[in-house]
Amino acid sequence: MVKICCIGAGYVGGPTMAVIALKCPSVEVVVVDISVSRITAWNSEQLPIYEPGLDEVVKQCRGKNLFFSVDVEKHVSEADIIFVSVNTPTKTQGLGAGKAADLTYWESAARMIADVSKSDKIVVEKSTVPVKTAEAIEKILTHNSKGIKFQILSNPEFLAEGTAIEDLFSPDRVLIGGRETPGGQKAIKALKAVYANWVPEERIICTNLWSAELSKLAANAFLAQRISSVNAMSALCEATGADVSQVAHAVGKDTRIGAKFLNASVGFGGSCFQKDILNLVYICECNGLPEVANYWKQVIKVNDYQKNRFVNRIVSSMFNTVSGKKIAVLGFAFKKDTGDTRETPAIDVCKGLIDDKAKLSIYDPQVTEEQIQRDLSLNKFDWDHPAHLQPLSPASKKDITVVWDAYEATKNAHAICILTEWDEFKNLDFQKIYNNMQKPAFLFDGRNVVNPQKLRDIGFVVYSIGKPLDPWIKDLPAVA
Ligand SMILES: NC(=O)c1ccc[n+]([C@@H]2O[C@H](COP(=O)([O-])OP(=O)(O)OC[C@H]3O[C@@H](n4cnc5c(N)ncnc54)[C@H](O)[C@@H]3O)[C@@H](O)[C@H]2O)c1
Repeated sequence: MVKICCIGAGYVGGPTMAVIALKCPSVEVVVVDISVSRITAWNSEQLPIYEPGLDEVVKQCRGKNLFFSVDVEKHVSEADIIFVSVNTPTKTQGLGAGKAADLTYWESAARMIADVSKSDKIVVEKSTVPVKTAEAIEKILTHNSKGIKFQILSNPEFLAEGTAIEDLFSPDRVLIGGRETPGGQKAIKALKAVYANWVPEERIICTNLWSAELSKLAANAFLAQRISSVNAMSALCEATGADVSQVAHAVGKDTRIGAKFLNASVGFGGSCFQKDILNLVYICECNGLPEVANYWKQVIKVNDYQKNRFVNRIVSSMFNTVSGKKIAVLGFAFKKDTGDTRETPAIDVCKGLIDDKAKLSIYDPQVTEEQIQRDLSLNKFDWDHPAHLQPLSPASKKDITVVWDAYEATKNAHAICILTEWDEFKNLDFQKIYNNMQKPAFLFDGRNVVNPQKLRDIGFVVYSIGKPLDPWIKDLPAVA
């Protein structure tokens, strides 16, 4: 029986290993983590992450060929294939601070693998890492190997949160990079055999190590760039009277461009896009390519611009001050169908409003009060470390209340901000909400989920990103 061990029971390690276990009944899969609370949750009825379909998959295989454990060393030493899916945060100090990937967790995992291994192993990079990380990992493993042979593979994960199980069941592609030596090719074959249990052969792409590592950074940079492109267009639409949804529809009909990922919004978030682009920028700079670095940097600048622009629209529309005003924030997760708040644009928008002394009432169907308080007190990049190593949250912010109902959040509010495109926000009773709000009642839609005309007919002043402006907002400055 092939034994797989995955180090890191997070958003990637948990779902990917659960699907491997489901699709490969003859493989034993153990997911290990240094975080006791995470492993306890994976072994409980309340899994540590929310992902549609995940519960069913875990229930079908947990205790049969899928296990979660804190006994990291035991399971690593027994495994044939070790996936490493630990955090790779952005460095906050020293060389490359604010850009380069911090490989502390990766390095410590590699050293531990070398220490405890008693048989040959395939070590698979599942985390997103800078190009040439495999070379560094190889050095750590071979210098400490005691004669044991390690083969390093790069097998980046392309799942999207919110649709992770669907993506894992039916991936657009699985990418495996390895050394072009006989040992490297044998290792590729072994990993390919695992995926071949359910992924059609033509969707399994095999490359050299560096192409696989770089492809993951490139894919995320391309995806984020599409969002920044349509968001840049949304600002121009507002200035000219064009409608960004109509423009995106017309542009996306070109088969060379395609219709997906062209929704204008308050900005992209999630744990990967910004981190991976910063990492790409740093690699370009280190390789003497400042023009290429600046090109990709602009994708992040436009994202920051979009979040600032949204806050400025709110403040300038509301008589240039939100001080003491109740603002209802609907949605905090970085997108619908996930409880993940890492780098969610809601953090920057809420911080911007709190700086202007607003009182926020926040509702998200999947995010807890503790998480929201934590997110609004943590410094940039601190979130991407194992939970027990993060700085303790200071006392809760008094300007925030977190409620469990959109109607409660909006009661007596001066304004509503929609920051996540949860389906339930489309079907709210906006007449009832309007009746219970202060007047004039403002609605700022950061995800284009409401029909602005219908809400204007009720009496709301509505701002929808990239749409023809409400007469109230038309002559106000867009950027402070
Ligand atoms: N979240 C995504 O959608 C996504 C998609 C593709 C790739 N990735 C990449 O995958 C990697 C993991 O991302 P994630 O979202 O799963 O992160 P995560 O923070 O949810 O999970 C990482 C886990 O690793 C554990 N860990 C850290 N060091 C460890 C060690 N030495 N031994 C055992 N456990 C250790 C942490 O406790 C944590 O539970 C990152 O490199 C990320 O960029 C993420």
